[in-house]
Amino acid sequence: MAGLHLEHLSKHFGATVAVRDVTLRVGEGEFLVLLGPSGCGKTTTLRMIAGFIAPTTGRVHLGGREITALPPWRRNAGIVFQSYALFPHLTVAENVAFGLEMRKLAKDEIASRVSEALRLVRLGSLGERLPRQLSGGQQQRVALARALAIRPDVLLLDEPLSNLDAKLRETVRIEIRELQRQLGITTVMVTHDQEEALIMADRLVVMSDGEVKQVGTQRELYEHPADRFVAGFVGRSSFLPGTITGPGRFETKGGLAIACASGLTGPAVIALRPERLALGPSASGLDNHLQGTVELVSYLGASVDVHVRVSPADRIVVTQPNRIDSRTPEEGEKIAVGWPAGAAVVFPDDGSTARL
Ligand SMILES: Nc1ncnc2c1ncn2[C@@H]1O[C@H](COP(=O)(O)OP(=O)(O)O)[C@@H](O)[C@H]1O
Ligand SMILES: [Mg+2]
Repeated sequence: MAGLHLEHLSKHFGATVAVRDVTLRVGEGEFLVLLGPSGCGKTTTLRMIAGFIAPTTGRVHLGGREITALPPWRRNAGIVFQSYALFPHLTVAENVAFGLEMRKLAKDEIASRVSEALRLVRLGSLGERLPRQLSGGQQQRVALARALAIRPDVLLLDEPLSNLDAKLRETVRIEIRELQRQLGITTVMVTHDQEEALIMADRLVVMSDGEVKQVGTQRELYEHPADRFVAGFVGRSSFLPGTITGPGRFETKGGLAIACASGLTGPAVIALRPERLALGPSASGLDNHLQGTVELVSYLGASVDVHVRVSPADRIVVTQPNRIDSRTPEEGEKIAVGWPAGAAVVFPDDGSTARL
């Protein structure tokens, strides 16, 4: 097992900067998730760790040793690709043995490692099948067994669950997480799915446009997002753009006066978490207390999202737990939305588009 250290890694493809100056440390046994939208440089970063892509600048260290110039097969990294990349004409056991044969291990050593890896992923009895005779979830586990069989120093997972249906994904992500803990293996996983990232990670790295925007635990990212992008990408926020008009005073572009806790001046944007807002009578007496109209109600089972228009330019989403005694507001209804000044996060307005 080994820690991983990325030092000022960049990758340019012609004029495209896919990864820009990424510096990260992954602790021994840690599960780190790179999270970000499609095209933000996650796969390129992972492939530089694996050795399939040479960085334009920067260095990769594994277990205290620089490996930047080592070819992939000398890095001892176990890799699971989004597509699984199983050999269709080889059996499950032969697929799992592949990396071991490349490493020229003895036959009986290979046999024992293959059966151990298949047992770990609960496919012990399916070694003689071909990949096409397996379900998507089983194929995914063969790919995982193949990565684990080499006893890697680091496990690299590129969107490993994206080809599974939603229900199976829920199970498999817990299985992978538990297996990773049990083996104590340093792991870097890439995903664009925030729920998956939140459930599986010890720490998360939020990326956008090839850059690291923030590194932290789930709680750190959610409670203290570094910027508007992170506030929109990890969890949900309603954004109200406007201007700080004085100490603790904010005016939205839509003309609403709002109390906030911020030392900023000038153009700014307020981010409101939907579950931290009060609706109806419980909004009265709070620092902010706005009158609005319910425009949309989304019934989600465990909770209900209420979209409230508070000015021609401003709409706020409030999530209510769907309790047995709670009344769901109706579309068109007049309603109050409230929150204490400290419940909102304020960012300088960087001009990026609003998102929810
Ligand atoms: N081999 C390549 N040649 C040119 N551009 C590439 C290549 N690989 C990736 N890119 C570009 O680099 C950026 C990051 O890609 P990628 O790392 O695959 O993102 P992600 O995995 O986050 O979706 C994208 O703009 C992509 O088009
Ligand atoms: Mg990718």
